[in-house]
Amino acid sequence: MAAEIIDGKKIAEQYRAAIKASSAKFLVAHGRKPGLAVILAGDDAASAVYVKNKIAACEQADIYSSAYHLPANVSKSELLELIHMLNADIKIDGILVQLPLPKGINASEILAAIHPQKDVDGFSTTQAGNLMLGGECLAACTPAGCIELIKSTGIDITGKHAVVVGRSNIVGKPLALLLLQHHATVTVCHSKTVNLPAITKQADILVGAVGIKEFIKGDMIKKGAVVIDVGINRFDGKLYGDVEFESAVKKAFYITPVPGGVGPMTITMLLANTLKAACAIHNM
Ligand code: GUN
Repeated sequence: MAAEIIDGKKIAEQYRAAIKASSAKFLVAHGRKPGLAVILAGDDAASAVYVKNKIAACEQADIYSSAYHLPANVSKSELLELIHMLNADIKIDGILVQLPLPKGINASEILAAIHPQKDVDGFSTTQAGNLMLGGECLAACTPAGCIELIKSTGIDITGKHAVVVGRSNIVGKPLALLLLQHHATVTVCHSKTVNLPAITKQADILVGAVGIKEFIKGDMIKKGAVVIDVGINRFDGKLYGDVEFESAVKKAFYITPVPGGVGPMTITMLLANTLKAACAIHNM
């Protein structure tokens, strides 16, 4: 039997409707909308599409947004100056610097300048540290979206063996921590893991977040697993996940498609974090 497809677009729409309702309440209470600033530096085509989608999503959810498109030769001090201005802007609750930054600019240094309360990406040492310690935090958006997609299947994460293939700061590591918070037994693998299939075949929940086209094949998946594909690999004008969908769909019970799985939830969690940051600023 083929797996049930987890419809990220539909789940995201339901969340966004709830966020829009909460934004409306925020507007009534505070006389302004929650606000997000998005900074894009350079001409990376994929980044430009992501930023456009983020701004459109804000509009639909009644979240105020401001976009800053800076040239590829922007200096570190210009970027820092903009971030300092946005840190002080009372209309702005969340600041997102789209990655990757142009070559020669140290992303860690730029991200560290964002006020932790406005770090809606959850990439700062403060927010990542809060997540690590299991406290209240703005969790990174893609991992948070993955958790909601897993929950949407109705399976209980508690006690399940979750295998995350990928160890990035943006997805693999924070997702492992979120899965631990949900009482999963977590294994983190990566491109250099020896005998990867022996480990992935143990996974009740398997996440592909390694950034390699169709890296995970059906014969690496345990029958009945929940498979979450974070990969966005462009090849010959088409998008591919980190999971080979055709073979995986025959083994999994639930699987996310690419596109239409994790992607829409990432932006949704960004909206949720912006609202959360706005409410925290007003102690709501
Ligand atoms: N580039 C790819 N994914 C992300 C993300 O989640 N946030 C930011 N800021 N940049 C990205």
